[in-house]
Amino acid sequence: MATSQAKIMSEFTNPDVEVLISAEQIKEKIRELGADIARDYAGRNPLLIGVLKGACTFLSDLIRAADIPLGIEFIAISSYGAEMRTSGEVRILKDLDVAVAGRHILVVEDIVDTGLTLSYLLANLESRGAASVKLVALLDKYERREKDVAIDYLGFKIPDKFVVGYGLDFAERYRNLPFIGVLKDPTQ
Ligand code: IMP
Ligand code: MG
Repeated sequence: MATSQAKIMSEFTNPDVEVLISAEQIKEKIRELGADIARDYAGRNPLLIGVLKGACTFLSDLIRAADIPLGIEFIAISSYGAEMRTSGEVRILKDLDVAVAGRHILVVEDIVDTGLTLSYLLANLESRGAASVKLVALLDKYERREKDVAIDYLGFKIPDKFVVGYGLDFAERYRNLPFIGVLKDPTQ
């Protein structure tokens, strides 16, 4: 027992990651967000759309904190290279499996950074005839915003640091950390 506990701790204690938001803080915030969403969307059978891959951890905890009938979907998008990014254009790598016309859509995103990806995605979903399109984001790196994005439900505002954990990666690593941390040196 003690040994397996120690093993878990060492697996989730990365010397290259400094804790910014603890697992407990995330849990508490998601309890509040889930209650807000359940209250606002009661009787509307919302469709929660998670943006792969980063938002999958957040989405899976969030839906268990929102005690109302709802549906889930996933979309995968990739932004173009640095120059194309300023146009805000993104490529849809995996589209939704259902039509969104007439549905109340809640996009679930891990982090809003420049806002370019989200502003494109929200406009795209609105153009498909959704009844409403709103956004829930766990993190807001507001200092780097280039395009205004209305975050209807927000977890935490964070400083302009590269963060990992709880779904967020650096080169596909660290997604499984149960907390949000700052990568001390991304080149390592
Ligand atoms: P943007 O808002 O269009 O700049 O893009 C946001 C996306 O960039 C997020 O969905 C993340 O996938 C990624 N991203 C932005 N900042 C971070 C970070 O600090 N850590 C990990 N991924 C990030
Ligand atoms: Mg993302």
